[in-house]
Amino acid sequence: MAKVNVYKTVELLNQTVAEDILSLCQACIEKHGTFHIALAGGGTPKKLYQLIASDAFCGKYPWEKIHVYFGDERCVPADHEDSNYRMVNEALLAKTPIPVENIHPIHIDVDDVTASADRYNDELIASLPSDQETPKFDLVLLGIGDDGHTASLFPGTTILQQMKKFVDAVYVEKFNSWRISITYPVINAAANIYLLATGEGKARIVKTVMFDEPPAEPYPIQRIQAQGNLYWYLDEAAAAQAAEIVLSQARSD
Ligand code: 6PG
Repeated sequence: MAKVNVYKTVELLNQTVAEDILSLCQACIEKHGTFHIALAGGGTPKKLYQLIASDAFCGKYPWEKIHVYFGDERCVPADHEDSNYRMVNEALLAKTPIPVENIHPIHIDVDDVTASADRYNDELIASLPSDQETPKFDLVLLGIGDDGHTASLFPGTTILQQMKKFVDAVYVEKFNSWRISITYPVINAAANIYLLATGEGKARIVKTVMFDEPPAEPYPIQRIQAQGNLYWYLDEAAAAQAAEIVLSQARSD
């Protein structure tokens, strides 16, 4: 069952997420000596990454025991403005003492995206602890798009059916571009999933995926079947339409 946390502002949300990741990281290191986290791309988590890289948090994180992976990547060079690696490196990694061998980018060969996906699939198998032969992240950070996608699991794409590989390449019609993404098997196997959504632009999709009757083809994010903990982190703006329903249900009870 998902746990939903709502925060007055995105700043309060990011402060809490940074603290929660630190606590989880410390618990995982206590338990098995490392912390394996898959980061989300896009715009939502950028300020969170900058906060973790700031003096308020950077010195508290045991970087030598943290391994950073990517939930998905756009098929562009690593210095391209659309690159998730570039965003994460500028916002976070370059500002921390994390050992370079602890950073696991999705290396993109724009001429062979399938090979790029297969290489990352093998890297996850080689680098992560596994649970019944599925690589197991301690934490996967995810966002949500206004079409209900998460990572690069977009509606109507072939990757939604990928139940064998842990990483796959996917052509996204709406962007006329390829992406590489982790797939449901590895997302579902994660010990923890933190799903972040902020801003009024996400209010409709958050309400839709939480409360509306799922469409015949459920939204990709609705198809996550987390075997571990799934926590939603919302600011009040993103939770606004969902909150209206919760309040109206409370009034009618
Ligand atoms: C990406 C992300 C993607 C993102 C959503 C939300 O590579 O873009 O992995 O799944 O989380 O598209 O994006 P925003 O945070 O920019 O709204």
